[in-house]
Amino acid sequence: MQKKKIAVLFGGCSSEHEVSRVSAFSVIQNLPRDKYEIVRVGITKDGRWFLYTGPDEKIPTGEWEQSDEKKRAFLSPDRGIGGFVVESSEGFTTLPVDCVFPVLHGRNGEDGTIQGLLELSGLPFVGCGTLSSAVCMDKAITHALLSNAGIHCANYLWFFRTSYTGDGIRKIKTKIEARLGYPVFVKPANSGSSVGVTKVNSEAELDAAVAAAAAESDKILVEEAVCGQEVECAVLGNTDPKAAPIVGEIVASAEFYDYDDKYKNGTSKLNIPAHLDDDVAAQIRTTAQRAFRLLGCRGFARVDFFVRNGKEILLNELNTIPGFTPISMYPKLWDASGVSYSELLDRLIQLSFQDDAQDFKK
Ligand SMILES: Nc1ncnc2c1ncn2[C@@H]1O[C@H](COP(=O)(O)OP(=O)(O)O)[C@@H](O)[C@H]1O
Ligand SMILES: [Mg+2]
Repeated sequence: MQKKKIAVLFGGCSSEHEVSRVSAFSVIQNLPRDKYEIVRVGITKDGRWFLYTGPDEKIPTGEWEQSDEKKRAFLSPDRGIGGFVVESSEGFTTLPVDCVFPVLHGRNGEDGTIQGLLELSGLPFVGCGTLSSAVCMDKAITHALLSNAGIHCANYLWFFRTSYTGDGIRKIKTKIEARLGYPVFVKPANSGSSVGVTKVNSEAELDAAVAAAAAESDKILVEEAVCGQEVECAVLGNTDPKAAPIVGEIVASAEFYDYDDKYKNGTSKLNIPAHLDDDVAAQIRTTAQRAFRLLGCRGFARVDFFVRNGKEILLNELNTIPGFTPISMYPKLWDASGVSYSELLDRLIQLSFQDDAQDFKK
């Protein structure tokens, strides 16, 4: 059997660029080589695309950008090309691929932009399509749709950063006081990896938190601070998605699960399985599957929850390209459920070839 050519996209114009490189390195290392040939395509933080043919070890460190073993390469929306246009000494050559795996986190990677280009290209690709990626990237829109379907989230409000000026500041502060009370979490509506997220204990701390969130996003979300457990559920599939049998829990070492706790210190603890009653875990899995379908996800998503008092379930967010670093929860939950990292990657690619993942071709 001829090997399928899989293009792994990494990096990207995103505050999560570095995390993406680490995720992509471990995806590349674990893709089954007997079935797949890998094409590595790096996107710099300022948005230049390269076909990279050097050692994989230079991907997580970012050294690949200084390497000579790269050529400019662009994913073509032209379905006649079916892959990349690569710059060469003769001008341009084409590099068709069978599937694209965007291992990109955050803006310009997980938010529907790349997915739109991939849909135009007509290529099978791993993960959610344009609409569901865009919806899940915007926490205010996600909350509105989920609440509408009776899936509970933390109490929240949102505003455009341009409203937080002059008289607007007082109005927003009054609403926060009336609807939520302190402490609250202030976060950019569309960022990830906790970048720009702040816990605010009193009104005096609000300005700085809004400024931090505004640096990431036009829309700012303010949520009641939920005191409870942080639980994550791994969902896999297209129109009939399944949640991993084992649900995981994060025990943050900092005051909350911030960027350093996620990626740098390695001091946060994971409980796999989560310390939850069986019926609560079952309810989390069902809710995760429902939210996945409701928002039109496909392929995979990690659905994150808060659990208050060991029983009240609040959906926090859906991550449509969950972390794939060696310490990431999504692959760990499948591994604990008997699906190894390599097997999981194989399943994700197989899912991208199914008819129910190719709606954009109709
Ligand atoms: N309403 C909330 N109550 C309690 N903790 C929260 C709340 N919102 C966010 N957090 C904390 O901040 C972290 C990052 O927020 P999250 O909404 O998950 O954004 P991101 O997309 O950056 O992961 C969460 O993992 C959690 O530790
Ligand atoms: Mg999160």
